[in-house]
Amino acid sequence: MTKLDGKVALITGSGRGIGREIALKLGSEGARVVVNDLDEAVANDTVGDLREIGIDAVACVGNVTDPDFGERFVTTAVDTFSGLDIIVNNAGYTWDNVIQKTTDEQWYAMIDVHMTAPFRVLRAAADFIRTYHKAEAAEGQEVFRKVVNISSLAGVGGNAGQVGYGAAKAGINGMTRVLAKEWGRFKVNVNSVAFGLIRTRLTEAAAGTGSINIEGAEIKVGVNPDVMQSLEKGIPLGRGGTPAEAAAAVYLFCIPESDYISGQTLVCSGGYMF
Ligand SMILES: NC(=O)c1ccc[n+]([C@@H]2O[C@H](COP(=O)([O-])OP(=O)(O)OC[C@H]3O[C@@H](n4cnc5c(N)ncnc54)[C@H](O)[C@@H]3O)[C@@H](O)[C@H]2O)c1
Repeated sequence: MTKLDGKVALITGSGRGIGREIALKLGSEGARVVVNDLDEAVANDTVGDLREIGIDAVACVGNVTDPDFGERFVTTAVDTFSGLDIIVNNAGYTWDNVIQKTTDEQWYAMIDVHMTAPFRVLRAAADFIRTYHKAEAAEGQEVFRKVVNISSLAGVGGNAGQVGYGAAKAGINGMTRVLAKEWGRFKVNVNSVAFGLIRTRLTEAAAGTGSINIEGAEIKVGVNPDVMQSLEKGIPLGRGGTPAEAAAAVYLFCIPESDYISGQTLVCSGGYMF
C-alpha cells in the first residue's frame, strides 16, 4: 500500500521540468494522473513514461489559459478516472522585464498563466468537490483533497525585473489562502509551494540563448552564467534544486500527513530567502 493509492491527481504543465517530476512522484505513490502540457509531444512522453511503470495516466493537452481549459481538465479526470483528489497548478513560465519595459501583453500573459488559469481550474473543480464531499460525509467518511499551487520566491519576497511574474506568483498565494477558508468545510487542504532556484529549462539556459515557444511567441528564458554562479553561492545548501527535489516538496502537501495543514506557503529554496 502506497500513500496515494486510488487518488486522482491533475497536474498542469507536467510534460517537462518540475511538473513532470510531480507526475512521476505522485504516480509512483499510487495516484492515477491527468497530465497536461501546451506541447503535445512532451505531454504524451510523460503519459508514456508513467504507463511504462504501471501508472494509469491520460493526457489533456492544451494551453491552460484557454477559457474552457479548466472545464476540460476537470472533466477529463472525472470521465476517465471517476474522481478528483489532488490538483497541482504548476504550468508557467517567466517573461521578465523591469516595469518601464514591461508591455501590457507581457503583464497579462503572466497574470493569465499564473493566476487566471489556476482560478478557472479550481472554479471548474468546485461543484465536483462539493458533490464528492457531500456523498462521503453522508457515509460518515472524512476524505481530504489537496490543492497545491506553484508559486515562487519572486512572489514571496519580490524579485527585481519580474514585475508581472512576481505579482502573479504573489497573487496565487493570496488565492491559496482564500480557498483554504472557502473549502475547509469540504475537507480540502489548499497550500502553495514557492520555489527558489530549480534547475529546469527556465533557469538552465544561459541568458540570451534559451527561449520557449508559447503559441508562436518566442520568449527568452535563462539566466546569465555569472548571475547563476553568484545566485548559487548565496544558497545555504550550496546549489540550485533538482526538479525531483522540487516535486518532493509538493508531495508533502499531497499526503495524509499534511491533512491538518491548509492556507500555507512552503518555501523550497535550499534555505535561500531574499
Ligand atoms: N525553475 C525554477 O527555478 C522555478 C522557480 C520558481 C517557480 N517556478 C515555477 O515552477 C513551475 C514549473 O516551472 P519549470 O521550471 O518546471 O519550467 P519548465 O519550462 O521546465 O516546465 C514547465 C512546463 O509547463 C508548460 N507550460 C508553460 N506554459 C503553459 C501553458 N500556458 N499551458 C500549458 N502548459 C504550459 C511548458 O510547456 C513546460 O512543459 C512554473 O509555474 C514556474 O513559474 C520555477
